[in-house]
Amino acid sequence: MAERLSPAHWRLLRNGIALHLSIALICFAAYFSGTAASWAATTPSQIKHGSQIFATRCIVCHNKQPGDNSPFGPPNLYSAFKGKAAITATQAETIITKGKSPMPPFGTVLSKNDISSVVAYLKAQAQSAK
Ligand code: HEC
Repeated sequence: MAERLSPAHWRLLRNGIALHLSIALICFAAYFSGTAASWAATTPSQIKHGSQIFATRCIVCHNKQPGDNSPFGPPNLYSAFKGKAAITATQAETIITKGKSPMPPFGTVLSKNDISSVVAYLKAQAQSAK
């Protein structure tokens, strides 16, 4: 026979469920709203993940050091987010997803999380490069 729960227990259980539901809802909303997505993309682990993606997929072409703006070859991504010609994270994500000839598209190779991580990494580099 199942033990009957006292009213106090029921209340605790109900409050617990309500609390979990609201936490889940906040996380859900945070994940899908743009501001929170870029907030999520700036965690150290995202940046580290992005640096690994960059090292394996992008460095063959975009191999310039921070601060190197020599005007040939693929653009220096460390400075792509600064100055007059700065691009936004969204523009970068579109270019990475769809490609921009001769750069190949990465939309089928990398996940959305990979792409936002590599952008977070590049933006973090841009901030530290002078
Ligand atoms: C085959 C060489 C190649 C590879 C690999 C490559 N790129 Fe590119 N990328 C280019 C070239 C060339 C351009 C300039 C395209 C243009 O403007 O015509 C470019 C442009 C860009 C831009 C736009 C920069 C700006 O200032 O407009 C971004 C952002 C970018 N690449 C990110 C990446 C990322 C991230 C990766 C790795 C996932 C990557 N690229 C891999 C060659 C490459």
